[in-house]
Amino acid sequence: MRNNQLCQLLGIQYPIIQGAMAWIADGFLAGSVSRDGGLGIIAGGGMPPDILEKQIRIAKNITDKPFGVNLMLLMGQVEAQIEVCIREGVRVVTTGAGNPGPFMPKLKAAGIKVIPVVPTVALAKRMERAGVDAVIAEGMESGGHIGSLTTMVLVPQVVEAVRIPVIAAGGIATGKQFLAALALGACGIQAGTIFLTAEECHVHDNYKELILKARDRSTVPTGAPTGHPVRVIENKFARQLLALERKGAPKEELEALGTGRLRLAAVEGDVVNGSVMSGQVAAMIHARRTVKEILQGLILELKEEKTALSERISSWDLSV
Ligand SMILES: Cc1cc2nc3c(=O)[nH]c(=O)nc-3n(C[C@H](O)[C@H](O)[C@H](O)COP(=O)(O)O)c2cc1C
Repeated sequence: MRNNQLCQLLGIQYPIIQGAMAWIADGFLAGSVSRDGGLGIIAGGGMPPDILEKQIRIAKNITDKPFGVNLMLLMGQVEAQIEVCIREGVRVVTTGAGNPGPFMPKLKAAGIKVIPVVPTVALAKRMERAGVDAVIAEGMESGGHIGSLTTMVLVPQVVEAVRIPVIAAGGIATGKQFLAALALGACGIQAGTIFLTAEECHVHDNYKELILKARDRSTVPTGAPTGHPVRVIENKFARQLLALERKGAPKEELEALGTGRLRLAAVEGDVVNGSVMSGQVAAMIHARRTVKEILQGLILELKEEKTALSERISSWDLSV
């Protein structure tokens, strides 16, 4: 991967980013992913600065390699979180929910690479103008907060619209999907759901079991009327929320009902009343593996699939 744009930009071995997952992606998971050749990300969204500092130090105890922190810009304490990132020498920040523009001078002056998650072409262009280093184009197959476009349709349009590197996210958990993302023009991938069942992931075991049991239609988007749809495994809580949405419940009621639910599932293990955020690709995750097995598995599959695909195509008559 020596000549891969993303590996060069971030100083990593494999062009694979472990996406932030609030309440789940801690310093231990991020440090493990970076140690084993990807880029681990600590989910900093809403995390008090002292806890963030602690998580960064946990990652630093695992590896000297670069790892990142995800900042949700509309949440409180972002400035204090940025100070912690700078002080602790964090090398990459991914951003969501908000405009990183006002924070760019400070982050750039500290030599931090800034990579926002974007669900549309317009936002990707705006981020490029703001001076970010790359963008993560995330399709609505993904777990957590989602936009309305699929990875298949969003990624090639973003690739065409910007000159900075584009990372594909949403629905990637196998070498086939990795190869498809590269074929769409991405220079690397970000994956979240695949890491939920990693041995090094501290999410509650009940959560892991639900991911392992998931099938093709196990996830549903909830919360559309709030303007912030979220993809979750369909359970009692999701059905309750969707019923209220159908009845036209006010946005405030829906938001209040959703508060604290991810923590309930991820930390307490209540996967009946909690929000089990997951991508559609959970259906393709069948085993608990170490982070190293996940990363190396993706790379080995990518190589195999590339060979298999070119052999398959080379036997076709493609004359025009
Ligand atoms: C449980 C869960 C929580 C997530 N939380 C965040 C978050 O806090 N910030 C963020 O930018 N993305 C978040 N995401 C999105 C991931 O970082 C990643 O982009 C996404 O999972 C990729 O799609 P996939 O789930 O199909 O692999 C979350 C995803 C999951 C599954």
